[in-house]
Amino acid sequence: MDEKEAISGHFRDDFLWGTATASYQIEGGWNEDGKSQSVWDKHAHTEGKIDDQTNGDIACDSYHKYKDDVQIMKNLKVNSYRLSLSWSRLLPTGDSSAPNAAGVAYYNKLIDNLLENNIKPCVTLYHWDLPQCLHENGGWQSDDIVEKFKEYANFCFNAFGDRVKLWITINEPHVNATLGYGLGHHAPGIMGRKYAVCFRRLDYLKNIYIPDPMNACYMVSRTMLLAHAAAWHEYDTNYRSKQNGMVSISLNSDWAEPKDASNPKDAAAAIEYLQCSLGWFANPIFGSGDFPVYMREHIAQKSKEEGLSKSRLPEFSEEEIKYIKGTYDFFGLNHYTTRLCEQLNEHNEMHKFHPDLDVILLPDPTWDRAGSLWLYIVPWGLRRLLKYISKTYGNPKIIITENGCSTKHDPNATSGLAVLEDTQRCNYLKSYINEALKAVVQDGVDLRGYFAWSLLDNFEWKAGYTERFGIHYVDFKDPERKRTPRKSAAVFREIIVENGFK
Ligand code: BGC
Repeated sequence: MDEKEAISGHFRDDFLWGTATASYQIEGGWNEDGKSQSVWDKHAHTEGKIDDQTNGDIACDSYHKYKDDVQIMKNLKVNSYRLSLSWSRLLPTGDSSAPNAAGVAYYNKLIDNLLENNIKPCVTLYHWDLPQCLHENGGWQSDDIVEKFKEYANFCFNAFGDRVKLWITINEPHVNATLGYGLGHHAPGIMGRKYAVCFRRLDYLKNIYIPDPMNACYMVSRTMLLAHAAAWHEYDTNYRSKQNGMVSISLNSDWAEPKDASNPKDAAAAIEYLQCSLGWFANPIFGSGDFPVYMREHIAQKSKEEGLSKSRLPEFSEEEIKYIKGTYDFFGLNHYTTRLCEQLNEHNEMHKFHPDLDVILLPDPTWDRAGSLWLYIVPWGLRRLLKYISKTYGNPKIIITENGCSTKHDPNATSGLAVLEDTQRCNYLKSYINEALKAVVQDGVDLRGYFAWSLLDNFEWKAGYTERFGIHYVDFKDPERKRTPRKSAAVFREIIVENGFK
């Protein structure tokens, strides 16, 4: 049988089927009822940061329209919903002794409404919208944040844990660290010195140079891992026995395929890339407790060559390693795309994109492309990645906490075929979920759930509203923010109802 052919079969009876969103991307109500500013409010309000000059002030207005969201989910037949909490809505000063009652009430209403409709909430504590006041006190660049995050997690477990049984501490620390503290495309917009050098050749970045000898993106990866571990321990020690839930983290990863599978250098490049991307966060939590050996040695060597007295990658103490290792109840995976990898050489060095990686990432020119520049459609990559995670990290329970496909939005199209007939997204969902099924039935991967990104078109970070990931179209020109199902909503529903493929 052709490996690429779709198979029929079913997922576990208790499989979680859901859609995912994030607070800043959908809620709006950015300064309502006592919410304080987050780093994303600040960033999106700064001129020139967002491609279409928009922001998440209103977004999908889910702060007011959450019941509409629950109803469209009910129609989809999902049994779960992944949402994130806005830290600055719940704890406007970052202090858990001064919570915002209106914020707590909002999430209570949403959670209750979900449960009344038989939809289990899966709650992310932090999907990048750090309270601005905490950022101003050092944010992820200060060790104090670990205690603050623990306090926040404790507050949330206490307030919502009687009903929420599935928790994600941090969404995609890799993206948050590299885009927020390395490349500067995301809030808080810090650009690392080495990224600046690497990207200076790009016209639009020519004049940007922020010296950052501490290399913020590695520093924040350390505090994020410690904060995640602190929240997991908090749950394990004080809540697990009474609340009986599960806590983990959502890590993003592309699949990395050697450009030429018969070339050992390409094979090594793919592994090096996976070590420095997925492994950066997965190894500490799901593996040895520390950053991957390759990553530590490689960055130490680079740092030495730069004349630095110590590695730019921070070190964990023995005690911290023990504290981080094993802090998971499942593996949360966000996956969208795949790249071919080859070792850096004199012919390809103009494609070097990462200051510390001697690996070149390329798409295969035959791959279909979605509406985001980075998103190539490669369904088999998901199966290979699931297999890799399962093998590398001891066959953990895996939940796909995000997977989805974008369309480029035509600002003149408001309804009809152009926005609703999303054939590419329909095929994406069918083929990726089918590959996930192959991973389960043919490779023995312990997959427990799948969340499609996203329930709704929403604020796509730097791309604003120019790229749409929703299986529901949202008209952002309409004050009512009307939601209309796309064809992909029906396709997803069919898969859910069948719990797989006929
Ligand atoms: C993030 C989402 C984002 C999606 C599509 C993920 O990296 O968690 O917030 O909208 O990818 O770019």
